[in-house]
Amino acid sequence: MKILILGVNGFIGNRLAERILDTTTWEVFGMDLGSDKVDHLLENRRFHFVEGDISINREWVEYHVKKCDVVLPLVAIATPIAYVRQPLRVFELDFEENLRVIRDCVKYKKRVIFPSTSEVYGMCPDESFNEDTSHLVLGPIQKQRWIYSCSKQLLDRVIWAYGQEEHLSFTLVRPFNWIGPKLDALAAPKEGSSRVVTQFIHNLVTGQPIKLVNGGEQRRSFTYLDDGIDCLMKIIEDPDKVCNGQIFNIGNPLNDITITELAYTLRTMYHRHPLYQGDGVGPEIVHVTEEAYYGPGYQDMAFRKPMIQKAKELLGWEPRVDLETALALTLDAYLLEHQNRSMRAESPAVFPNPPIAPKNAGDIVHSMGVAPLTLDPSPSRGEGGGEGE
Ligand code: UGA
Repeated sequence: MKILILGVNGFIGNRLAERILDTTTWEVFGMDLGSDKVDHLLENRRFHFVEGDISINREWVEYHVKKCDVVLPLVAIATPIAYVRQPLRVFELDFEENLRVIRDCVKYKKRVIFPSTSEVYGMCPDESFNEDTSHLVLGPIQKQRWIYSCSKQLLDRVIWAYGQEEHLSFTLVRPFNWIGPKLDALAAPKEGSSRVVTQFIHNLVTGQPIKLVNGGEQRRSFTYLDDGIDCLMKIIEDPDKVCNGQIFNIGNPLNDITITELAYTLRTMYHRHPLYQGDGVGPEIVHVTEEAYYGPGYQDMAFRKPMIQKAKELLGWEPRVDLETALALTLDAYLLEHQNRSMRAESPAVFPNPPIAPKNAGDIVHSMGVAPLTLDPSPSRGEGGGEGE
């Protein structure tokens, strides 16, 4: 089988390509703007990579849609600050450019597995979100945060319509806060430009205050990347031919916590980490308003928990990695990356305050023995004091 992954150097794309090459005989064709996350795959003769931009290299994309059996268009802007600051860019890339790819799939009658998003549910009041019955609830137009959700939702509807009217073979997948290695780059972090777990790890290694937006009582269900990849593999394989026309939530409802709990848990894990050599106190955890953190145009959902019954029943899939392990693996990967960067002294200014000693670098592997935790951080909301930056 030939698989086309657009955005193959991304967080999901690189791991999916790696898994396909490791566990199947399939070929992977991939395009991305860069190759840093797939450099280790370039020697593989079943991996065909081209550096490029889907909005410019349209002929390459069309030719490869025609050539491949399954298409995964994973190119998207997916960080909330961009929804607020560059809403048009989000619409152009996430909707317009991806629509072109979808139309290529229709034209060549190719199967597409499209990444919708947990964000489409917005402020849905359901306790957990069902792919086929939950309402998709967004805020007013001035709240530009919803442009990502709205763009994805519209494309979901367009894909659905192509399925109905033109017999497009499709599956929509909705990742719920996947975390893991290479989620966002730690090397060039700007506040708000990373998703929350990367942002908090960045704050920990640089000693900058961790900021809880709007009280930190909002909840997310964090899903470990490899669990999500397991599910994607089942959907691509689809031996029982059950995936056409389906929407699947891919999340872990058992890993549901508040952002405050996340902050305290990660800080404790960091303090217990073998590489940590600080005094076990900071950085402080403070409160900020959404306006101060993201600027105008931001609005949040209070909770977001997936219902995953459909993936269990149709695919025989369920997530296996608990929250503590998922966070430990993610933290390990970032600390190792930070360690390697510090040792190469490539960007010392990025981490002006590193509390990590380089002496054990050779021993560092995944899951390096972070002491077990119970997720009961007993936070004090006032710590670090007050609202505002
Ligand atoms: C994310 C992004 O929209 C997409 O990556 C994706 O489609 C989706 O969720 C998903 O992964 O399922 P969100 O969960 O709001 O949305 O993004 P984060 O930036 O990870 O923020 C999570 C929560 O932490 C938000 O309530 C945010 O306000 C809060 N936060 C973030 C803080 O309190 N402090 C920070 O420093 C950063």
